[in-house]
Amino acid sequence: MNQSTQANPLSSSSGTGSLFPQPCTLVIFGGAGDLSRRKLLPAIYNLGLDAVLPTNFAVMGFSLEDLSDDSYRDFARSGIEEFSRQTLTEAQWSDYERTIFYQRGTFDDPQSYQALKRRLEEIEPLCGIPGNRVFYLAVPPRFIESCARNLKQAGLISPMESSGPFSRVIVEKPIGQDLHSAREVNATLCSSFDERQIFRIDHYLGKETVQNILVMRFGNSIFEPLWNAKHIDHVQITVAEQEGVGTRAGYYEGAGALRDMVQNHILQLLSLMAMEPPWSMDADVIRDHRLDVLHCLRPLSRRVVEDCVVRAQYSHGYFLGEDVPGFRREAGVAPDSVTETYVALKLFIDNWRWAGVPFYIRTGKRLPKRASEIAVQFKPVPHILFNTDMSRPLEPDVLALSIQPNEGLSLRIATKLPGPRVRIYPVKMDFRYGSTFGGQSPEAYERLLLDVMAGDATLFMRRDAVEASWAWIQTILDEWEDSRARWLPEYSAGTWGPVEADRLIASDRFQWRVI
Ligand SMILES: NC(=O)c1ccc[n+]([C@@H]2O[C@H](COP(=O)([O-])OP(=O)(O)OC[C@H]3O[C@@H](n4cnc5c(N)ncnc54)[C@H](OP(=O)(O)O)[C@@H]3O)[C@@H](O)[C@H]2O)c1
Repeated sequence: MNQSTQANPLSSSSGTGSLFPQPCTLVIFGGAGDLSRRKLLPAIYNLGLDAVLPTNFAVMGFSLEDLSDDSYRDFARSGIEEFSRQTLTEAQWSDYERTIFYQRGTFDDPQSYQALKRRLEEIEPLCGIPGNRVFYLAVPPRFIESCARNLKQAGLISPMESSGPFSRVIVEKPIGQDLHSAREVNATLCSSFDERQIFRIDHYLGKETVQNILVMRFGNSIFEPLWNAKHIDHVQITVAEQEGVGTRAGYYEGAGALRDMVQNHILQLLSLMAMEPPWSMDADVIRDHRLDVLHCLRPLSRRVVEDCVVRAQYSHGYFLGEDVPGFRREAGVAPDSVTETYVALKLFIDNWRWAGVPFYIRTGKRLPKRASEIAVQFKPVPHILFNTDMSRPLEPDVLALSIQPNEGLSLRIATKLPGPRVRIYPVKMDFRYGSTFGGQSPEAYERLLLDVMAGDATLFMRRDAVEASWAWIQTILDEWEDSRARWLPEYSAGTWGPVEADRLIASDRFQWRVI
């Protein structure tokens, strides 16, 4: 593929990323936690290094632990040294550390919010910040309600309509455990904030390759005419993780692969891949079009769940030469757990564009490699000319969007092998972000934090989309609950999933892609 690296005006003139981040304080609830150390504090550091942060900016950690500003700076520094995309430099660090503060507090104690308010009012003038605040709720889900209520009661939230400083809140996944609880969380949030102040984060949407789905589809003229049931045979979406449950057993036991991956990340990827062309890059226009896809998902019946949804658990196996335990033997997992670590399913989008095209989804832990991709398989050519041998049909064309790692896209097409006879061979044309543009792409959290500072909600989940995806998933959850299964099909750690998943796709004469 001819890879031009010339800047494309599309990226700056319109669409997401065109608003500017405003001066503000980022208040991280749970600022002394894992997410903050591994992702948020390093993301801010990288934004500073790339000179894209607003000049007047501060970070305030707010958490249970008793830390001084200095010890919180040490905490931030250790996170950056270990996890930052770009290496820590002393010059940049001394700029950054001056903007970092910490306030000890308890999420359900109103007094802590008064103390936080006083601290912000003290720091904001020193940093030249006009009172704009972004509250990042990096907190266990059970605290969302008390954080939202106490923020409002403490007078820390400016009304949306006021001409004064802005207040925005970022909410981490998971939003609920099912449709009912998701509605409750949303109702709670909306009783303290205007929907336009709420940024529900799904970090998948911040990945360069995910944003590139829109550019690829609507910034080129060659794909859109083919992007429909007439030309596309089926679509496979894979989100594979290498790790097991690790230290997250406490969370994962109550979630499982369906809630952890399908309800949010994968349905969002599907929406972007399948949405109709939007008529503007306005956040709500794009979000409306994504939502339309969720509304068109063919409703699942209990019988369809049995036929078209596979769940499984990893069992003992060998992984990168290491002997690894099965899920039920992992620390913190119940020995009789029926939490699924793998899901494969088939779905349909019932609209004109996608009528009859099956979408296959699979995700799991302890799979052979870490890889996320959307693969679009085009219809086979007719059995004439080069495709007459029915026992060895030509391999169909495939456009594969690689979300991670090796971000990029590849197109598999048929070519003639050099030589006197006509022999056909599939070749791959490859575009990789790393080799074309060099360096590492910004982390998803970097992009998403900037967007919140700029007030651009395009890459965030709106209330209706969260509830629409839960509504679709709910039938599967109900069916599984009712089945009272005592065991699940298993797959050995380090393999691509259970035989039931192979049968699911094979029954339609397809097979899972080798990634
Ligand atoms: N970690 C990730 O990579 C990741 C990825 C995606 C989403 N998330 C989501 O992000 C949220 C935070 O995750 P996390 O991994 O950062 O959790 P975490 O490590 O447990 O951090 C939570 C922080 O909140 C503090 N805290 C707990 N109860 C408190 C209270 N009552 N008052 C004040 N502070 C309190 C904790 O202090 P103590 O440690 O002293 O209890 C800890 O510093 C969760 O909703 C999670 O699902 C995390």
